[in-house]
Amino acid sequence: MYDLIVIGGGPGGYMAAERAGRAGMKTLLFEKRELGGVCLNEGCIPSKTLLHSAKIYDYAKHGEAYGVKITGVSLDHAAVVTRKNRVVKKLVAGVKAEMKASGVTVVNGGAEIIGKNRVACGGEVYECGKLVIATGSEPIIPPIPGLNEGLESGFLVTNRECLDLAAIPEKFVVIGGGVIGLEMASYFNSAGSAVTVIEMLPHIAGQTDRDISKALMDIYAKKGIEFKLNSRVTAIEPGRVIYDGGEIAADKVLFSIGRKPVVGGFGLENTGVALNGGVIRTDAHMRTSVADIYAVGDVTGKYMLAHAAYREAEVAVNHMLGRKDVMRYEAVPSVIYTSPEVACVGETEESAGARGLDFRSVTVPMGFSGRYVAENAKPDGICKVLAEKRNGRVIGVHMLGGYASEIIIGACVMIEMEMTVSDVREVVFPHPSVSEIIREAVFKL
Ligand code: NAI
Repeated sequence: MYDLIVIGGGPGGYMAAERAGRAGMKTLLFEKRELGGVCLNEGCIPSKTLLHSAKIYDYAKHGEAYGVKITGVSLDHAAVVTRKNRVVKKLVAGVKAEMKASGVTVVNGGAEIIGKNRVACGGEVYECGKLVIATGSEPIIPPIPGLNEGLESGFLVTNRECLDLAAIPEKFVVIGGGVIGLEMASYFNSAGSAVTVIEMLPHIAGQTDRDISKALMDIYAKKGIEFKLNSRVTAIEPGRVIYDGGEIAADKVLFSIGRKPVVGGFGLENTGVALNGGVIRTDAHMRTSVADIYAVGDVTGKYMLAHAAYREAEVAVNHMLGRKDVMRYEAVPSVIYTSPEVACVGETEESAGARGLDFRSVTVPMGFSGRYVAENAKPDGICKVLAEKRNGRVIGVHMLGGYASEIIIGACVMIEMEMTVSDVREVVFPHPSVSEIIREAVFKL
């Protein structure tokens, strides 16, 4: 008998388990694969490890722009993957140690909910007072002719296999110009593949600010990536991808057209928990439609981002403990780890317009930042800030530029704390730092 059972050991699940364990709840966590979930094993962390190697390689190749001449530079992809595996192993061990330190029991196996407060695994039945469902998401695989055969033969890969390719493909085709597609396109472009991105929308990078997605595409087009926009893939054949505008030869194809919540295979149907369009419906405390059952992370279909899952997990556990807390999504940042990076938080011009907000928007080039110019031979990039006209509140910050992922937290705080343009003007930013670009934009507003 446990106070809490958590199903799924990704960021949402392990954070819920850790917080509950630390608060003295007797907690059990089920994970059928590795602790850390997609994020740690086949998503955020391994892809960032690869991208960092690509960044070092790019710097070395173009060092002369900074007065550093290096000859004989090469990228050893096998060594990059080996390092990636070491990083993943170390961090998975870290999560394991954290579970132990928090007093959480971890069972390595697939759990099945067999009734309210009852979960079965490996012939044992476990009972609990509360349940957290954190089963995550999986790639969307639509019924495109030849797709399953391509996946079986290894010609087609998803985010999982893409991180472990034995060699750099000569011709690498990416289907879906979203976050996964762009990050992997960036790595293989740096590593020397001829990369083509096929995207059905008229722009890349999904909901990202349009000026930023356009600027990012221009930068990568100059680096040699070919973009096929307004193009929908219709069939896969050995060695080629067929889309409504033609066909492209490929040695390897990444399939990344989005992910869907995992709501099957663990007895969810035995709970009566309500779904909404294939995702578990949750309220602001991450409660499902059934008392004492919570859901956090990708399975809720709200933001498929590890950092949103972390916070949802804390909110769920706080609710169990009777602590006042609610989930707010206004200041959840999103980052694409290309070079340069994209980092955004809050409203875009499109979303603010759709909500009928009266706002002002200012865009400044990253070249306004002294440090950025000092450290970037080509200081591409922009920073856009949106503020509401009626009260001056900052409602959106969008950046394209190196370090953007590390700076965006400042903007998250501004939005979360409902700061106005005047409030931000009183903040002292470190100089010289790229973060000053936000101050520049705010002063213009
Ligand atoms: P995504 O939703 O970001 O992008 C999928 C893209 O595929 C969309 O632009 C869509 O228009 C396009 N598409 C759909 N069907 C198509 C077709 N038949 N032909 C051509 N294009 C098509 O999904 P993605 O990249 O698979 O990522 C999944 C999730 O993983 C995202 O929700 C993201 O939040 C998360 N993620 C986050 C990262 C980060 O925070 N840096 C990194 C990687 C993934």
